[in-house]
Parts: sequence; structure tokens; C-alpha cells
Amino acid sequence: MRNFLILLALFSACNSLYLPEQVHIALDWEDTGMRVSWSADQPSYGSVVQYTPVNSPNDTVTKFAYSNMGSWKTFLNMDVSKILQRHIHVCTALMSGLIPGGYYKYRVGSEMYGWSSHFAFRAKRNFTDDPLIRLLVYGDFGIGQQAEATTERLIQETETYHYDAILHDGDMAYDFPSYDGSYGDRFMRQIEPYASKIPYMTSQGNHEADTATLHYLYRFNMPSKSKNLWYSFNLGKVHFLAYTSEPPFWNQTGLQKQQQEFIDNDLSTYNRTEYPWLVVFGHRPLYCSANWSTSGLEDWVPPVIRNNNDCLQDAQVVRNTFEELWHKYKVDFVINAHVHAYERLASVYHNVSVPCEYEDQNTCIGASEPVFVVTGTPGNQESYAPISPTPLPFSMAQDAGWGYSRLTVFNSTHLYWEQIRSVDQTISDWFWLIKSSKSTAYN
Ligand SMILES: [Fe+2]
Repeated sequence: MRNFLILLALFSACNSLYLPEQVHIALDWEDTGMRVSWSADQPSYGSVVQYTPVNSPNDTVTKFAYSNMGSWKTFLNMDVSKILQRHIHVCTALMSGLIPGGYYKYRVGSEMYGWSSHFAFRAKRNFTDDPLIRLLVYGDFGIGQQAEATTERLIQETETYHYDAILHDGDMAYDFPSYDGSYGDRFMRQIEPYASKIPYMTSQGNHEADTATLHYLYRFNMPSKSKNLWYSFNLGKVHFLAYTSEPPFWNQTGLQKQQQEFIDNDLSTYNRTEYPWLVVFGHRPLYCSANWSTSGLEDWVPPVIRNNNDCLQDAQVVRNTFEELWHKYKVDFVINAHVHAYERLASVYHNVSVPCEYEDQNTCIGASEPVFVVTGTPGNQESYAPISPTPLPFSMAQDAGWGYSRLTVFNSTHLYWEQIRSVDQTISDWFWLIKSSKSTAYN
């Protein structure tokens, strides 16, 4: 009996190495598909995703109608010290043939090595009857105490499954490779409660470059031919384009050339009539307000950590790389992060605001150039950027409290943006971007 119990304990311990965790989903190329990714300490042969339609995400299921094979990939984590090394295993699978707007339950794993919990999601809607879309948006989300308030809010926000996607605009975990990759695991576990139910769409930040690059390329599975670096997708009346702002900062001229070819091709060929809104998201800001009251290069000292380089020299590099593209293709809305504060800018081109046909503090009707936002306050263990006392002349709103953004696009003409404080869910900024008949003609 004793030997049997020892064997049972050993078997359980070994099996736990294969248990799926860190489950998250993403939109697919096909409207009827949903991608799922997960990790385990060890890859296991025969891993699948099983899924089945349900009337409600709260339904319990014992049988799954469909099963699709997963595909494991392994990469080597390189700790910042470059001494510790660990293999990290990520499995991806596709849930296909989904009924638009239908609810599904799913699990990942295998009969032999164990299953994940049961999760639920809503398949992408067809938007024919109701084009309204809702997204949660933020960048610069780490782990630990600073991330707790926003994590709690995001779990609450997604309880009812009424969000169509979450945009994480770069910088995660701080950093994925730290402590033998355990920071990456902690971050992916932290987002699982909502990233397993709402498509979690990402862009690469500077914290997903260098030794963290492989984590970004392998842990996520965007509908992208560039390993998650750039891609596009449609929701409601919006064409979204994700891009990486990193190439000019790492002398990746060839990579930027490839990205620009993608952007040129994508934005010159997609159906603007069907998707009149064009929203792009990438990590580093083109515009943000510096803090001239600090010395700039010495400001990495808490609590004043608004890095002026980000909004001065680096923002100029980002503008040199992307602004003509956003101007040429008449982008409506540019979402950035990187600075750990919230800021909304006006409609801007070449460092000068371009008046809307009508505008007030919270409204722009008929913009002819993009409106810019910086949303980098969900919480992270790295730094904190207080409100700039020297805002740009076209800075329309700032907030420094931990928070996140909501993007609601009602139809072909009305886009609504708001910034939510995580501590009490109050709205710290709100903004209407409305197309006029003239601005629609710009497109
Ligand atoms: Fe960043």
C-alpha cells in the first residue's frame, strides 16, 4: 500500500508538469475562428483544445463537441543576467467553425496529461445588425501590488463578456525573462481570468525587445505573418492596425522596411467604405508632454519619473518613422503608451494642432488629422509618471492615477473614448470623435 501511495504521488507530481495554464485567446484571420494559447512546464503529446457551443457562458458542460490539435513551440528564456536559462513551452490551437456571436465553453490539455479549467468566450459577431464595438485598452502593465487594482477592475469589466477585444499596447510583466522567466509566467497567469474570455490583442513594447523578444513572439499568437509584430483586423466599423514602434530604436532598418511594406499594402487595400474608422496602435508615443521642471536625463529617481527623453528625442524618432504614414492613410485615432501616465492630445500633424470643424474640450467633429492618446497607467513595478506641469499646447487631458481606457465605436460616425481610474472606476477623461460628412469624404 505504501509503495502504491508513493507511486501515486510521483505520478501526480510528474503529471502536474504537463498541466496547462496561462490560457489566453486572440482573434483569428477568419471571423469564425478564435486562437487559444497556453503554457505548461513540459510539452505533452496529443494536446488539444476542446470546445462546444453553449446558450450561456455560465452553462456547465461535460461533453465538448469539437476538438482541434495544438502545436507546441519551445524557446529559451534568457534571464537579464544572461546566466540563467530555461526552456519555455507554449501551445497554440485554433477553435474553428464558430457561430458568429455564439457563446462557447472550452478547455485545453489532454486525457492523459490533464485538462485546464473550463473557460468561455463569445465568438466574433458579424456586426450586421449592431455595429457597436467595445474594447478595453492599455499599455505598460506589470505584475505585483501596483497591478492589483487594475487587474481587479478588468476582471469585473469582463464578467459579462460584452467586450469585443482587449488591446495591450506593449510593455508587459517588467520583464518577461526576469527571475528565470517567472515574471513572464506571473504576468500570463494574472491576465488569464479575462484574457481567456476576451481576445487579447497585443503590440510589441520596448520591454518585449532585447532578451524579452522571444517571449513576445512565442507567448502570443496574433493573426499576423510577422510573429505578432504587425497585423490588422476588423471589428464593427473599425479597421485596427497593430505595429511595432521598436525598429528605429534597435537599428532594425530591414525590419522597419518590411513593416512599412505591410502598412502600405494593408492601408491602401482594405475596404474603407465598409470600415470607415481607422485606428492604429503601437507602443511608443508620437506626442506626449515632457516635464520641463525636471532635469530630463536624471529623472529616473522616484517619485518623479517622467522620462523626458520619451516625449522629446524619442517621440521625434517615432514621428519621423510613422507620422507621414498616418497622415497619408488618414488614420483617425492613434493609441500609444510607454509613458506611465494618461494623456489625450488634439488632432495633430507636424507638431501643430489641426482644428476640427467643431471642437471643445471633449469633442472633435470632423478631424482631418489623427487624434492621439497615451494610455500607460494600468500599473507596473517599474516607474510612475506624474502629470506634466508643462503640457504641449495641444494636450487636451492628463491623468496620473492607475487606470485603463475604454473604446466604444457606435457606428460609422461616432467613436467614444474614456479613461477609467482603477481605484474607484471614476471617469477621469472622456472624448467624442465624430465624423462629419466632410471628414467622411476625406476618407
Ligand atoms: Fe515602454
